[in-house]
Amino acid sequence: MTLNIILLGPPGAGKGTQAVRLEDEHGMVQLSTGDMLRAAVKAGTPIGVQAKAVMDAGELVSDEIVSGLIGERLDALGNETSVIFDGYPRTAAQADALDTILSDRGRKLDHVIELLVEEDALVDRITGRFSCGNCGAGYHDRYKLPKVENVCDVCGSQDFKRRPDDNEETVRTRMAEYRAKTAPILPIYEARGIVTRVDGMAPIDQVNDAIEAILAPAG
Ligand code: AP5
Repeated sequence: MTLNIILLGPPGAGKGTQAVRLEDEHGMVQLSTGDMLRAAVKAGTPIGVQAKAVMDAGELVSDEIVSGLIGERLDALGNETSVIFDGYPRTAAQADALDTILSDRGRKLDHVIELLVEEDALVDRITGRFSCGNCGAGYHDRYKLPKVENVCDVCGSQDFKRRPDDNEETVRTRMAEYRAKTAPILPIYEARGIVTRVDGMAPIDQVNDAIEAILAPAG
């Protein structure tokens, strides 16, 4: 059965970390609008050029752009693949757009999983985050260091990078955007009875176990 789930939570809540686990364990596909936009910035596409300054400031890229990216990516996947929406939707307009995008493709939303976290801990999580410049594997200065210093566990690369928006000032703006524009969409999904909350402050494996328990009845 095809699953469509949203991982919702503020910057640094662990959405990307958990989405990658679900990809590995269930063959689901992570649809991260943040990753798509960073790829567009790197490639210098018109969308990337438009998005760069907005992202660097920690503000939100336009609803039309991100919903367009999601629709295109779903079309490329076909309808038999289970997906995890990571960082999308982020506004009421995006939530509306997602309903249309899904129903046009014969899909329906199964779960919205909200990662509950303490904001103060998130600045520490985000400013300590880095990733492999070759394969994208994620690490943290304290919580998840490579097993061998400066060598990626996954691909052996010694090239690591940090996101330009992972500084304290921008993180605070991203959190304010989350509170003002994204948290208010939760009641839309609560009214449908599809929201489950998970303690995002627990260790990564425990968060994963809690998400697995939510998905288990659906297979
Ligand atoms: P995006 O890339 O989506 O960033 P974000 O939402 O700010 O989320 P992050 O990637 O920072 O956090 P995460 O929850 O994935 O945490 P992670 O797993 O990495 O968006 C970036 C920008 O793009 C936006 O600001 C906006 O400009 C634009 N954009 C994107 N989508 C958009 C949209 N739909 N509309 C408009 N604009 C959009 O974890 C963080 C760190 O914590 C890692 O180091 C990890 O190892 C560690 N960690 C994770 N879980 C735990 C745990 N349980 N315990 C301890 N450490 C943990």
